[in-house]
Amino acid sequence: MAFPTETVYGLGANAEDPGAVARVFEVKGRPPSHPLIVHIGGAEQLGNSVEDVPETARLLAERFWPGPLTLVLRRGRRVPLEATGGLETVAVRVPDHPVALALLSAFGGGVAAPSANRFGSVSPTTASHVRVELGDAVDFVLDGGPCEVGVESTIVDATGDVPSVLRPGGVTREDLEAVLGFPLAVPSTSRVRVPGQHPSHYAPRARVVLVELEKLVVEAELAQELGHRVGVFLPPAIGGASVKVHAAVEIPDSMAAYARGLYGFLRELDQRGCDLIFASLPMEAGLGLAIANRLRRASGPRPSD
Ligand code: TXA
Ligand code: MG
Repeated sequence: MAFPTETVYGLGANAEDPGAVARVFEVKGRPPSHPLIVHIGGAEQLGNSVEDVPETARLLAERFWPGPLTLVLRRGRRVPLEATGGLETVAVRVPDHPVALALLSAFGGGVAAPSANRFGSVSPTTASHVRVELGDAVDFVLDGGPCEVGVESTIVDATGDVPSVLRPGGVTREDLEAVLGFPLAVPSTSRVRVPGQHPSHYAPRARVVLVELEKLVVEAELAQELGHRVGVFLPPAIGGASVKVHAAVEIPDSMAAYARGLYGFLRELDQRGCDLIFASLPMEAGLGLAIANRLRRASGPRPSD
């Protein structure tokens, strides 16, 4: 069953039922070593999924839940290893969406859910994206309209004293640090590994090419001349200019609107038949950090990396 959250649509199953969890991996085509996020209806249910809740985790949960923040904590015994990809930690969050919260409250337990897309592809931000991705393999899709945030939750390793960000997302680093009152640890010092974070995640069919803003139009037009069907993400500074490429989307002015539209833009350019998508990275602050992270991953490993 697929359901809306404020970030992206999730493909849900009873987190405590190993058979149901296995089915999620099967439908998604995801290797079983990639852990799922357990969704709960409120912070008071955290004790059912995790072993203990350090003070910093409690603080972050109080401030950001419901919301696009996922906390990685020590796994409670009720969460089977199937849901955590064999890890002794578990990722948990309370989504900020009325349909998700109604579902979780009616169900009462934890719902393990990855994004409702095929493994490695772009996350769905509408119910129809889910149908396109998963077809008949999913029995029903709860339609809660387009997702407000549009990029996945921020994942924070909160198992130690100083939390670190494992995946940038809907809650910004700046917001987290303002609440904590101290800087987050750098991810490389994190004690947990980050499975499912390989470079080609979030990829559309077309190849994403990242270029500097100053060269964006020139390079896109050159590739088009060379015979590619080029799509381009036009930043507000360039927006409206006539660019000689196959298709263009104008990036909204605000980072929030950009994040909300990001996956839809990638899908749109795919649908319009582009084989290359040219884009520049936004400033890597606030939500720009998550957007840049997804664009980098969509572009896959580059020869110069
Ligand atoms: O916004 C979101 O987080 C969406 C909605 C549906 O809630 N979900 C989502 O799930 O993005 P998924 O499965 O596509 O990505 C979850 C990521 C995995 O790639 C994995 O890296 C990380 O969460 N993760 C899960 N459990 C973990 C753990 N115990 N330790 C470290 N990383 C973990
Ligand atoms: Mg995903």
